Amino acid sequence: MSGLRIALPKGRLYDPALALLAKAGITPAEDQNGSRKLVFPDTGLRHEFVCLKPVDIPVYVESGAIDAGIVGSDILREFESDVYEPLDLQIGRCGLVLAAPEGVEIAYDQHLRIATKYPRTAERFFKSNNAHVHIVKLDGSVEIAPLLGLADAIVDLVETGRTLRENGMRVVEEIARISAKLIVNRTAMKMKAADVSGLIAQLDRAVYANP
Ligand code: PRP
Repeated sequence: MSGLRIALPKGRLYDPALALLAKAGITPAEDQNGSRKLVFPDTGLRHEFVCLKPVDIPVYVESGAIDAGIVGSDILREFESDVYEPLDLQIGRCGLVLAAPEGVEIAYDQHLRIATKYPRTAERFFKSNNAHVHIVKLDGSVEIAPLLGLADAIVDLVETGRTLRENGMRVVEEIARISAKLIVNRTAMKMKAADVSGLIAQLDRAVYANP
């Protein structure tokens, strides 16, 4: 295959990622929303796209099985993968926050039970605040954990704030601002330099183009 193998994230980043690629003049030949196919070319038959769970994308890109990918900085922070991050794509913007039920005071000198999909990021955050916490690792719908007594608070993404509001929770503190990044395998960066710099330039123009 000439060109690059590029990972696209399933889920909430998928549509904004596709819109950005289209703005950059790159169009996948199939749309994951209307197909079960996981691998497909772009309409120019230059690149190949692979749809993956976001959490798996850095694993594939670090190993070189996939040359490049689009993934949230929440995942890059959590897994500290050894990949290049040449471009902030300015899509999928949200906050990674500590949140707790309304009316429940959170103090870092309490022994807190924290539910999260981001155990390492949460550990680092509480350690930097000299807090001792018990982390409960979950894979989704984290907001339910305090309501059911599994945890005192959560560390999770907040985009519109609707999920927190509808589950009677509030933001205690923002831990990080999150957005999607282009990531590239370190070997591909050298061995496929022309393709990689072409992709970066196309996406860079799309990110900073006027709407
Ligand atoms: C994310 C996040 C929150 C929600 C926040 O979950 O974990 O649950 O979105 O968005 P909001 O502030 O706009 O309501 P996602 O939908 O990705 O699913 P998950 O909980 O299964 O991970």
